[in-house]
Amino acid sequence: MCGIVGYVGARAAQPLLMEGLRRLEYRGYDSAGIAVAEGGRLSVAKRKGKVRELDAALPAAGFSGAVGIAHTRWATHGEPSDANAHPHLDATGRIGVVHNGIIENAAALKQRLAAEGVTFASETDTEVLAHLIARRPEPSLVEAVRAVLAEVKGAYGLAVIDAARPGALVAARNGGPVVVGVGEGEGFIASDAAALMGHARSIAHLDDGELAEVRADGFTVFTLEGTQTVKALSELSGDALALEKGDYAHFMRKEIDEQPAAVRRTLLGRFDRRFATAHLGGIEMAAREMLDIRRVKILGCGSACHAGMVGAHLIEQLARIPAHAEPASEFRYRNPVIEPDTLYVAVSQSGETFDTLAAIQEVKRKGGRVLGIVNAVGSTIARECGRGVYLHAGAEVAVVSTKTFTSTCTAFALLALQLGRVRDLSAAAGARLVAGLDALPDQIAGIIAREAELAALSARLAGAEHAYFLGRAASFPIAVEGALKLKEVSYLHAEAYAASELKHGPLALISPDTPTVMLLPDDDLLAKNLSTVAEVRTRGGPVLAVTQPGVSLEGVEAAFAVPACEPELAPLLLNIPLQLIAYQVAQGLGRDIDQPRNLAKSVTVE
Ligand code: AGP
Repeated sequence: MCGIVGYVGARAAQPLLMEGLRRLEYRGYDSAGIAVAEGGRLSVAKRKGKVRELDAALPAAGFSGAVGIAHTRWATHGEPSDANAHPHLDATGRIGVVHNGIIENAAALKQRLAAEGVTFASETDTEVLAHLIARRPEPSLVEAVRAVLAEVKGAYGLAVIDAARPGALVAARNGGPVVVGVGEGEGFIASDAAALMGHARSIAHLDDGELAEVRADGFTVFTLEGTQTVKALSELSGDALALEKGDYAHFMRKEIDEQPAAVRRTLLGRFDRRFATAHLGGIEMAAREMLDIRRVKILGCGSACHAGMVGAHLIEQLARIPAHAEPASEFRYRNPVIEPDTLYVAVSQSGETFDTLAAIQEVKRKGGRVLGIVNAVGSTIARECGRGVYLHAGAEVAVVSTKTFTSTCTAFALLALQLGRVRDLSAAAGARLVAGLDALPDQIAGIIAREAELAALSARLAGAEHAYFLGRAASFPIAVEGALKLKEVSYLHAEAYAASELKHGPLALISPDTPTVMLLPDDDLLAKNLSTVAEVRTRGGPVLAVTQPGVSLEGVEAAFAVPACEPELAPLLLNIPLQLIAYQVAQGLGRDIDQPRNLAKSVTVE
């Protein structure tokens, strides 16, 4: 959370920094700010609200300096306001700091500075850093920042500018992602490489405990102890156009449409058709090691965890290995038992989610082995896991996950197939699943093309204050994900339950005003699911069904059928209409779909 961008070079910094902020706005959007060094001082603009508010606040002629830093914020300390927006400056206005994270000992540092006569312009923890750096006697900015960080406790991704020494910016990392970039006679800093696409040629990821002096002619990285380190540069590839909405009203809708292509890329080159199996080279696991797995534990947060729940079902069904998914955010707080024959799988779109990263570190610390299923190439979680599966779903900009959820489920289907085929899954069953996976992209495209048929379901939900989402067994994670999607973008109260749990309590709330979205795949649990429909109907509850062809829909108010498919893969199709419904409801209610209130895409703080 919080977007950071920095530039040092020969071009005017402001347009580059503002472009970077627009690309990083998904990381936080309650305020934004920019500081550019010109004529020995910092020119600063900061505004509560979105980057467009900051745009409007910039002087008509713009700032002309060629060195600057900028920030888009997701508030932790201090409410969103002009004063609390970053950059934060020291009393003389010479040092500027932008920060992602939390300074845990800010109160003590503030007290000390106040006793020395410093007055504060904001309620943030970040401002102490600017004052502390300005008071350091070291000859270079990087040395001054290093000295200050030695007394700072907490998590940070930082960029620092000194108007009196504009030849270099300083970046630092401890728990908050930071990349440094190199262009043609230009240096860059960003919290996400997306900000630098089309400008930097190559990038390096800082590791925790490192800081970098970034100059127009390159960068130098040091540890907090002052030792110089050598970083590997990777080429910054990727299409800057993919970060634009194009003709779409929202990134969420664009990314829903991108799902067939995303799934195709997740599958590409990952079948071994001769043996009717999948081959995931990145997991670096020989058949022998796969055979030794006694349990699979999947860790992720939010939608990543829900995709993990889908994955657990697939692994249990296809490979007959006990598998379970749980929120990474809870896992590490209960002193988890780590077993040597358990395979841990960490799931993350961004690869930067703090809770997931901390859970992985806990597993590794205790000797467990972890695979990553990650979208962002080179991200912290991908590097921490060291082995795993990249989704190749492409950049996901909307705060809500859509295409990466579907791609993650697809990656789990591949993993389950591969684990299954080294165990008891027959070649015939393997071939059936390979064909089923092959068919997925076209089936998903077919569902999306029928979006208009979902209007009746969406209208019914938009008029309600509360909704239930019910699914049994493998459909339950889809009910949970569908409810989350509706909550996130429409702000309606939606609750998911396992259909079998309905009569153990939640049935009390069924009424004519509470629609139930019922997942009704045509599988061997259909009769049970139809009984649940009858239970809801008997209490006067309206039922909206997401189902498959041929299912009897007696008593159902409105329904949408996804195509028939291999039963194990039905969850992946049932989810698509729920994404579209959430989008339609939010659009009807006029919500801020790509940047829902209070949320940020990548949660890099605890
Ligand atoms: C999904 O719509 C969410 N916004 C959220 O639950 C997200 O999936 C979660 O924060 C995990 O993010 P990650 O995949 O980047 O780790």
